[in-house]
Amino acid sequence: VVISSELHSQVDHHLKAHLSRKSAARDGYPHNTLPTTPSLKTKEGIHEQDEPHRRGFVAEGILRRKSFHLRNIQQDWQESAEGQKMQEIRTSLPAHKQKEALLNAISKNQVIVVSGETGCGKTTQLPQYILESEIEAARGALCSIICTQPRRISAMSVAERVAAERGEKLGDSVGYKVRLEGIKGRDTRLLFCTTGILLRRLLLDRSLQGVTHVIVDEIHERGMNEDFLLIVLKELLLHRPELKLILMSATLNAELFSSYFGGAPMIHIPGFTYPVRSYFLENILEMTGYRLSAYNQIDNYGQEKSWKMQKQTLRKRKSQIASAAEDALESADLRDFNPRTRDSLSCWNPDSIGFNLIENVLCYICRKERAGAILVFMTGWDDINSLKDQLQSHPLLGDPSKVLLLACHGSMDSSEQKLIFNKPEEGIRKIVLATNMAETSITINDVVFVVDCGKAKETSYDALNNTPCLLPSWISKASAHQRRGRAGRVQPGECYHLYPKFVYESFAEYQLPELLRTPLQSLCLQIKSLQLGSISEFLSRALQPPEPLSVQNAIEYLKIIGALDDYENLTVLGRNLSVLPVEPKLGKMLILGAIFNCLDPIMTVVAGLSVRDPFLMPFDKKDLAESAKAQFSGRDNSDHLALLRAYDGWKAAERQQSGQEYCWRNFLSPQTLRAIDSLRKQFYYLLRDSGMVDIMEKCNTWSHDEYLIRAIICSGLFPGICSVVNKERSISLKTMEDGPVLLYSNSVNAQEPRIPYPWLVFNEKVKVNSVFLRDSTAVSDSVVLLFGGTVTRGGLDGHLQMLGGYLEFFMKPGLAATYLALKRELDELIQMK
Ligand code: CDP
Ligand code: MG
Repeated sequence: VVISSELHSQVDHHLKAHLSRKSAARDGYPHNTLPTTPSLKTKEGIHEQDEPHRRGFVAEGILRRKSFHLRNIQQDWQESAEGQKMQEIRTSLPAHKQKEALLNAISKNQVIVVSGETGCGKTTQLPQYILESEIEAARGALCSIICTQPRRISAMSVAERVAAERGEKLGDSVGYKVRLEGIKGRDTRLLFCTTGILLRRLLLDRSLQGVTHVIVDEIHERGMNEDFLLIVLKELLLHRPELKLILMSATLNAELFSSYFGGAPMIHIPGFTYPVRSYFLENILEMTGYRLSAYNQIDNYGQEKSWKMQKQTLRKRKSQIASAAEDALESADLRDFNPRTRDSLSCWNPDSIGFNLIENVLCYICRKERAGAILVFMTGWDDINSLKDQLQSHPLLGDPSKVLLLACHGSMDSSEQKLIFNKPEEGIRKIVLATNMAETSITINDVVFVVDCGKAKETSYDALNNTPCLLPSWISKASAHQRRGRAGRVQPGECYHLYPKFVYESFAEYQLPELLRTPLQSLCLQIKSLQLGSISEFLSRALQPPEPLSVQNAIEYLKIIGALDDYENLTVLGRNLSVLPVEPKLGKMLILGAIFNCLDPIMTVVAGLSVRDPFLMPFDKKDLAESAKAQFSGRDNSDHLALLRAYDGWKAAERQQSGQEYCWRNFLSPQTLRAIDSLRKQFYYLLRDSGMVDIMEKCNTWSHDEYLIRAIICSGLFPGICSVVNKERSISLKTMEDGPVLLYSNSVNAQEPRIPYPWLVFNEKVKVNSVFLRDSTAVSDSVVLLFGGTVTRGGLDGHLQMLGGYLEFFMKPGLAATYLALKRELDELIQMK
């Protein structure tokens, strides 16, 4: 059978059902939610933010009363005992000395650049200085300050801190807003938000009406959103001469930003930190290998032995100790490391900063060093979790009740967060395992020891092969300096760099800006939806413009998925995608899930893809974990359907109060499942608010249909597709751009002796040595043909070409026309206004 009759009837059914709804719903669903905003250049745009003055005396009176009210509240707090205590803490921060200079510079200039060491009080104090001075001047009700943060967690924690410093609840004069979440009241004057949120706001309100100050924080990180925002703001400043822009940066490359804004004044806040001693690998091996073995001996010989005895033993065992140091080297997998090949970092295996070495250092500090928290910089969530598991009951760390082991990463919840900032009780050693987010945006005050593994997971992008890579790579000198500085907050500290000095010397000064190392699809979509003109022209105005080939790839991708038409104009789908705060591919799945009434399972899949994999793969129980996962997939050849079933099973178990046990039995992370659960809810509200779904029941009439779910997964993940050829002993997988590719071993498809489908769609490919595909779902020819991408100017031929040109059955006479008609109809449905 060339086209399975099943497919025909299914697709037919869906199409008929939806086409009949189409005319009825055309006027409202899924509608374009964007109000038309005045162009930046029109006069209205400029005047409207003067609105309060135009509302006449009554409104002016109200605003004035409000401003006085704000002033009274502020004064009351400042005069209260608690307020004064807080004031004392605040005035001790280095930023305080520069308060007047900062406010003065802001009043005299449209743009200023502020730099200062992390922890000097930029983020918590500067926005507050502005707010306080506006309130003092009885302009409180007129000001609106937005301060952007690159990460959700810092926006939330900083807002909370600033509200506390002002003796208020979050949502009074200080609030925050991050993706899908926020606390913000009607009278909130100072809003901490992620950079993404401000960009989204610009989508609806291009002149930032009513906003008086924009503060862009952590610009030294050169995140893509920040670089993008700077291009937009640079243009906006021309049309809003009274809008103030303050750029804040931790390290000292302020000149770059200053010159981008025509030589804006720079203000540096000299910081105060205690001296920090640095140790590099060569010192560490000597110290820990040496002293750890010495310490073990002391243990063996019993604590009561005198120092003299110990010294003697040490001397006697010198040779043994030397070999212990060698063991430490071996256990750290550093055998390949040859100090003579200084020119090449490749002899140093990226994964070789083994847990053993970190463990050794931690044990050394816990047993031999003075009190103080330890901050360990690791590459990512997975590593943090596995090390945490491993350390939980580590004998060398000593009494487990005396160690407080915490993880700090972007997706931790707020209760975990509080623990990180809290100083533990006397005698308890706090160890925080963190990603590089603890480098600048979060300050843990009681840190005395820093352990720096020298790496960070960094996305990079290979434009030639159009392949994103996510690899732990060496940090920059600036980052190493930052990490080190975290140890000197409260007293002199120590920093253990787990790499040799010469490796440090070969680090780049600064990290490459994200704009130059990531795929640009979401960004290009935003440029289009903000009507910023030609994508290439716009991006050429960036601080450091991306390569034209990367830009071209992104535009091509958006055309393939149907978000842009052949002439680079935003399509209806493109517009709908641009209001959803998820990647275009995930947004497309959500929209199709809504159109095809199988929203519930699609929301689960999308939430799973945006949070992280809930399937745990403990190192020592990998086989068990893999077979647990395989059970969920059954014969479906789909990681996404496996996730869906695992989640549904968990929900059912939760209702029976056995969720925990269910997770334990099936190697699932309850934390991740809960995160998926909450994200799902947020997706639903989002789709409802943007008018794409109305009643939940109605959007789920086809939720049981796994065939359809598979098709929608394909629609989102396409053109992430590889062909499958089953060989006698193996399966050969190929993508158009990369040729042969491999599957990660934890994919259910990696376990199969054969895959009875011609294609796999995948969410992500990662170049390590070979190209590896993460989660995948097997799909049939017909699904790829109908749901893969949009038929564009190239027509059917072009579409086929894109699919690799070898959909054989398609060549049978007569089928082409039928399919093309069906495909066109489907494309139209997706683009429905
Ligand atoms: O932005 P910058 O790195 O210059 O410093 P900050 O984040 O404003 O931090 C200034 C001080 O406030 C530091 O001593 C932090 O430890 C403290 N802080 C806090 O106690 N709780 C927070 N949630 C944030 C900051
Ligand atoms: Mg800061």
